[in-house]
Amino acid sequence: MDFQRRLADIVGAGNVLTAAEDVKPYFIDARRLYTAGRAECVVRPASTAEVSRLVALCAAEDVAIVPQGGNTGLSGGSVPTGARREIVLSLSRMNRIRSLDALNDTITVEAGCVLATVQQAAEDAGRFFPLSLGAEGSCQIGGNLSTNAGGVNVLRYGMAREQVLGLEVVLPDGRVWDGLRGLRKDNTGYDLKQLFVGAEGTLGIITAAVLRLRPKPTANVTAFIGVESPRHAVELLAALRGRLGERLSAFELISRPSLEAVVSHLKDKDPLPAPHPWYVLSEIADGGETTLLREQVEQALAGAAEDGWLRDATLAQSVTQARGLWKLRESIPEAQFVNVKHDISVAASRIPELVDRLAAALRAKYPDVYPYVFGHVGDGNLHYNVGPEKMVKERPAVNRIVYDVVAELGGSISAEHGLGQLKREEIRRHKSALELELMAALKRTLDPKGIMNPGKVL
Ligand code: FAD
Ligand code: MLT
Ligand code: ZN
Repeated sequence: MDFQRRLADIVGAGNVLTAAEDVKPYFIDARRLYTAGRAECVVRPASTAEVSRLVALCAAEDVAIVPQGGNTGLSGGSVPTGARREIVLSLSRMNRIRSLDALNDTITVEAGCVLATVQQAAEDAGRFFPLSLGAEGSCQIGGNLSTNAGGVNVLRYGMAREQVLGLEVVLPDGRVWDGLRGLRKDNTGYDLKQLFVGAEGTLGIITAAVLRLRPKPTANVTAFIGVESPRHAVELLAALRGRLGERLSAFELISRPSLEAVVSHLKDKDPLPAPHPWYVLSEIADGGETTLLREQVEQALAGAAEDGWLRDATLAQSVTQARGLWKLRESIPEAQFVNVKHDISVAASRIPELVDRLAAALRAKYPDVYPYVFGHVGDGNLHYNVGPEKMVKERPAVNRIVYDVVAELGGSISAEHGLGQLKREEIRRHKSALELELMAALKRTLDPKGIMNPGKVL
């Protein structure tokens, strides 16, 4: 029997897609950087047992597998390269919430659950699932864990890695590892689940996860703040943390050009009456009453203003206004998707130096360069997008300038978007030979045939 018939035997003929118009969306990445790769077909299993049988069949036939969630990844990890026989394995039909244990504060979900659905399920149970990012309406938990996604709440709650207590994984030979333990304490050897988090589908297929839930904040304050410079933003962060502590949940930096781009894209208006060179969008959340929290935030901001760390600030007066401010922030990527993007990190204290040095290094070669800077400054993570549009032709040279500065400051060339195909070669300049050797050894041990997402990460 031919290969596709055997796939169809496992998932049903309707879940093996081959028609050009059906497979096209699965073969093109979110940034449209990788549009040429083709796979033999797209398979859409509905259960872990089906994934297991599919993987065993592919291993026997030496066909590679590209796991795909919401296909919102920004490093080209979720689409085929076309370099060898491949299939795309979409997790979208595996979208059940298996259980929620309110007393243990955990939720067990299948990998294809959309992030927003998990957030809503937590909310319906009076809990909070803190992972939050612009693509949350379409990215999936399996993709979030496989990229170790960050987003806007990392400052308080950590990255995807810190939200996971257990995993179920189909290994590259088709065996199922049931690690779905909802334990907060488990010191029984190597923490295997963390190997698969951030592995971008190169070590196995995550089919389900036990995730931590948090208490749901009852008081939320959203502040939009005008600041003089990145140094003022970093000082403001320290000042607000000192006054508000753990309650500071998000602290996002937005440069004036980024704000202008998104305001024009959304046909919105500036949140503050006068323009400022930089802005911070911050979320402060707690139990108790919003009125009380608001007073405390106002006092904290007044104190920071006296110290000279901010120029102006406004607090959202309603949930709708708060949503509007967050929509501005979350729409920045789509407002300037064409520029040369970078997802970089340094120690938060070095952010001001990073911004100054990047501008100087880029301007030395390209005097009319126009950076759009925004990102998760509280985590030391900036999205440093280089415009104007014509700079796209200069992408490799621009990347090199940016990554060299990042390396000099001891930073990372991929803070939260992973390596995928995009940074697979570049990372070789930044990791030591020993680190690369250890990664390759892990890959060989778990996936000796090299069928899991080839051409990505390593
Ligand atoms: P995909 O894109 O489908 O896949 C990503 C990688 O994971 C691929 O290598 C794929 O092979 C692998 N994979 C997917 N599912 C599985 C699985 N079940 N098992 C094994 N491997 C799997 N990212 C951030 O970190 N922070 C942000 O703030 C952020 N904001 C974004 C905003 C926008 C508008 C967009 C378009 C993207 C943003 N992203 C952000 C990037 C993206 O949303 C994340 O990387 C997300 O975690 C990817 O999830 P996905 O389901 O779309 O995965
Ligand atoms: C964000 O923080 O908005 C994202 O990570 C997306 C991007 O960098 O474009
Ligand atoms: Zn981001």
